[in-house]
Amino acid sequence: MRARSILALCALGASPCAAQTIPPILVPEVGVSVHPFPMTQVKLSDSRWMDNQDRTLNYVKSINVDRLLYNFRASHKLSTNGAQANGGWDAPDFPFRTHAQGHYLTAWVNCYATLGDADCKQKATYFVAELAKCQANNAAAGFNTGYLSGFPESEFEKLEKRTLNNGNVPYYAVHKTMVGLLDAWHIMGDETARDVLLKMAAWVDGRTSKLSASQMQTMLGTEFGGMNDILAYIYQYTNDQKWLKVAQRFDHAAVFDPLANKEDRLNGNHANTQVPKWIGAAREYKSTGQTRYLDIARNAWDFTVNAHSYAIGGNSQAEHFRPPNAIAGYLRNDTAEHCNTYNMLKLTRDLWALDPEKTSYFDFYERALLNHLLGAQNPADQHGHITYFTPLNPGGKRGIGPAWGGGTWSTDYNSFWCCQGTGVETNTKLMDSIYFYDNSSLYVNLFTPSVLNWEERGVQVTQTTTYPINDTNTLKVTGSGDWTMRIRIPSWTANAEIKVNGQPAENVKADPGTYASLTRSWTSNDTVTVKLPMKLRKVAANDDQNTAALAFGPTILSGKYGNTVLNSVPKLDLGSVTRASGDDLVFSATADGKKVELGPFYDAHGFNYNVYWATSGSLPSTA
Ligand SMILES: *[C@@H]1O[C@H](CO)[C@@H](O)[C@H](O)[C@H]1NC(C)=O
Ligand SMILES: *[C@@H]1O[C@H](CO)[C@@H](O)[C@H](O)[C@H]1NC(C)=O
Ligand SMILES: *[C@@H]1O[C@H](CO)[C@@H](O)[C@H](O)[C@H]1NC(C)=O
Ligand SMILES: *[C@@H]1O[C@H](CO)[C@@H](O)[C@H](O)[C@H]1NC(C)=O
Repeated sequence: MRARSILALCALGASPCAAQTIPPILVPEVGVSVHPFPMTQVKLSDSRWMDNQDRTLNYVKSINVDRLLYNFRASHKLSTNGAQANGGWDAPDFPFRTHAQGHYLTAWVNCYATLGDADCKQKATYFVAELAKCQANNAAAGFNTGYLSGFPESEFEKLEKRTLNNGNVPYYAVHKTMVGLLDAWHIMGDETARDVLLKMAAWVDGRTSKLSASQMQTMLGTEFGGMNDILAYIYQYTNDQKWLKVAQRFDHAAVFDPLANKEDRLNGNHANTQVPKWIGAAREYKSTGQTRYLDIARNAWDFTVNAHSYAIGGNSQAEHFRPPNAIAGYLRNDTAEHCNTYNMLKLTRDLWALDPEKTSYFDFYERALLNHLLGAQNPADQHGHITYFTPLNPGGKRGIGPAWGGGTWSTDYNSFWCCQGTGVETNTKLMDSIYFYDNSSLYVNLFTPSVLNWEERGVQVTQTTTYPINDTNTLKVTGSGDWTMRIRIPSWTANAEIKVNGQPAENVKADPGTYASLTRSWTSNDTVTVKLPMKLRKVAANDDQNTAALAFGPTILSGKYGNTVLNSVPKLDLGSVTRASGDDLVFSATADGKKVELGPFYDAHGFNYNVYWATSGSLPSTA
């Protein structure tokens, strides 16, 4: 869906890139009228967002690609080229080794797309070419044609026979490799990636066509990522119905049936196992028009966002969904797994594209990206390492990982957890959901400093802001033409103001929870300012109205507790909260009878913090 025509892949001012053919989507998508811009057309500008991107790019550009190829080559009986093996979840004896690499491939592809970076392109191209060699050696390795993985194909036989008992999740790992290849094909135009991907898909068809429907459903009891999604994608890019049939084999009835009936049976399920299936359901709807798929995806989103998410937008405790609305009862040190939110954001933008009048999708996107994922990267680390969970216990601290990761931030070569993969990808696509377009409009969904090059209309839009510290965003248009700018007015604001060239925009409604529409004949240098007044808000836990997080506009605030250990949820006097300075988001308050400083949770690193409070009183009306 990202690219619909032949595009010159050259980012502005980038020299190393040549025009390449990007494959269009061949199957029209049911219900979709609004599209993201290709990453080649959007660049971040200086900001916290760009700092995150830079740190992750430092890492993925410095990584030794031969080390990432080690397990693939070993498994496919090729020389490992003297490379060192990795540790963590990519160690040569880790059951689902090579699950992370697809995300690294996508990160290099994203880096090349948005920045025209030759080094990223070289790494992506080399990685794909080496995977092709692995796949080509299958006869010698004793694998079926098309198989590609860092563990032996015999794991799939065991999976099918239900004798796999080492914790492996083979399709989950293979799915991630396939997505990386799809991105290399459809974002970068790499035809080797297409060939390797289609051979893998044929291999999946070969294995699954031999299973009865009930054998297949039993097998789906083991985490399989978004196999339905990637195969439906392949159908959309090839217009070969066969792939849709293979995709639908991965429709997991035990998960889909209750969702189709609007029943929330998420409690106790491994959360990140489910979300990719829902993303697949949304794509299967777009591929077939069958509304049952749409019901499944929408109901899953509604349940998860409204009944299973913490104030920061993350969900899950110890990787699992808990009973609906159980929030205050689960403030632990292993809440909000990173992967789940990465996947929820994918689902969110996919569903929004089917319902672009609805601002609640991007209200959630902003909430989760700003308050969960942005701060899940360690800003003190030039390689931008990632935390697996985001603890929400009183006095929690980021960088607390699972015991198997040493309880800390990820590392260059010894972690490779699922969340490191999704973290690497997240921080290289921070520009991909700011702007969207349809045949008459530009949508501004996120307030992020950036430059959009809207090639099709010969227009550039430059967004400047220090949001969410400052409440005002400037959108400067260069170029001309008749179109509508549609700006998301978040539900948390009131009295939003829109000006054009310094004058209040006439007859433009800017009600919270709607898109403000500015239709005009644009001329160069037209400047739109969007002011979204912010104030303190209480974000109560669904299961206890007195247990609440504090927000200022979109930003969740947390208390700074240094090294102090908190043994219970601190009692906060809401009436005591005051803003210390108008220039940044520093507040102070009284909690447990002592003064505490509050700041943006996305900046809470290196000390114990507190997010949820036992609240009393009410917020000052002036704050
Ligand atoms: C633009 O898109 C809308 C909504 O999908 C559609 O109804 C309309 O016909 C389209 N107009 C043109 C000129 O393509
Ligand atoms: C997380 O909390 C559990 C108890 O809920 C505790 O046993 C464990 O040590 C904590 N882990 C860390 C890293 O603080
Ligand atoms: C936001 O920035 C504008 C323009 O620089 C400035 O006039 C305004 O005072 C700032 N507002 C806040 C709340 O900091
Ligand atoms: C737009 O502004 C730039 C600098 O701010 C100026 O150089 C240019 O002439 C302006 N263009 C128009 C059409 O006013």
